[in-house]
Amino acid sequence: MSILVTGGAGYIGSHTCIELIKAGYSVVVLDDLSNSSREAICRIGGLVGQEVPFIEGSIADRSVLQHLFSNYQFSAVLHFAGSKAVGESVSHPLMYYRNNIGGTTVLLEEMARAGVKQLVFSSSATVYGDAPNPPFREDQPLGQPTNPYGKTKLFIEELCRDVAASDAQACGGPDNNPWHIALLRYFNPVGAHESGRIGEDPRGTPNNLMPYITQVAVGRRPSLSIFGSDYDTPDGTCIRDFIHVVDLAEGHVAALKHLSAMPGCTAINLGTGVGYSVLDVVHAMEAAIGRPIPHTFAPRRPGDSAATVSDPSRAKAILGWATRRTLADMCTDAWRWQQANPQGYGE
Ligand code: NAD
Ligand code: UFG
Repeated sequence: MSILVTGGAGYIGSHTCIELIKAGYSVVVLDDLSNSSREAICRIGGLVGQEVPFIEGSIADRSVLQHLFSNYQFSAVLHFAGSKAVGESVSHPLMYYRNNIGGTTVLLEEMARAGVKQLVFSSSATVYGDAPNPPFREDQPLGQPTNPYGKTKLFIEELCRDVAASDAQACGGPDNNPWHIALLRYFNPVGAHESGRIGEDPRGTPNNLMPYITQVAVGRRPSLSIFGSDYDTPDGTCIRDFIHVVDLAEGHVAALKHLSAMPGCTAINLGTGVGYSVLDVVHAMEAAIGRPIPHTFAPRRPGDSAATVSDPSRAKAILGWATRRTLADMCTDAWRWQQANPQGYGE
């Protein structure tokens, strides 16, 4: 069975390609390399012992998609491609709406044209907005994301729900090839493949906590700023549901395996259900590397919520999937990757 993986050269997509191939799927990657490197594709190939078919191109390029759908028999699409920097989305909202929403629209149109109607989409816990009482359940009302990036995730979820609902209208009767769409809401993916060969390689200054910490640890940056120490949490710093990227990748394989039993559109949280504070992560990384991480406290970052934690019970019930890796694993693996690749993929 062949799977089209959009954004497969990126952080989460690259780890998922490995788990897909290990599970027996054939994978074709479509990525425009706007936030990744061809080296990641080579390294996936090295880890799985086979070359991974790779097409450099955009999900917004209809001709590329038509070429792909006519040359391969895809059973499903795993859709990671998109822009994801929250700050950049505030300064360049149209770029985010065009790339994420416009690109996804073209992809869905070409999937429908090709009769490939099984989709796994990379959504985010950001769709819960600033909901007050974690853990968050998929059936609770969605919130208001505070930035254009988050809004693109919310709108694409809506778009998928409308597309799935359109099946019933399309031919005035039961559709014999209905959409099956899984909206996977990721919490905070961190860590790296245990080989240390692939990992997170942000361009420029990292926005996210874990790559910032590992860059301090490896000497690329002098000190971590912890944004806010006066939240209403046990140690005053924010709480997040950090999930090992390989657990997340395995969650995608589980979603793909169960997709044919999920007609319509189904939202599923991918998280551990356990919250750790920013200081917990700093201390876990200090234990992993065996020395202190220089850090100072700074004012709160606008838009941050105090605590974000998943209720992972739907994933367990529907997919039979739960996380296996600990915070210590996340830190050890993130550090192994950063230590072996101080400049990431080096481009
Ligand atoms: P990433 O930037 O490493 O990967 C995204 C990939 O998509 C990159 O390789 C990029 O080059 C590619 N891409 C971007 N626009 C494209 C286009 N128009 N056509 C083809 N390729 C394109 O990001 P990631 O962390 O691996 O995230 C993957 C997905 O998961 C994204 O949709 C992201 O929004 C979502 N997500 C990520 C997180 C997180 O914390 N990392 C959390 C929630 C959701
Ligand atoms: N943080 C710091 N210092 C840093 C970076 C982050 O203290 O240098 C703190 C943040 O203030 C926050 C916590 O670490 O309290 C986690 O921040 P991240 O940026 O790593 O993650 P977020 O929870 O803000 O956002 C992540 C993804 C988003 C996604 C969201 C969904 O980056 O794409 O989870 O919950 F939308």
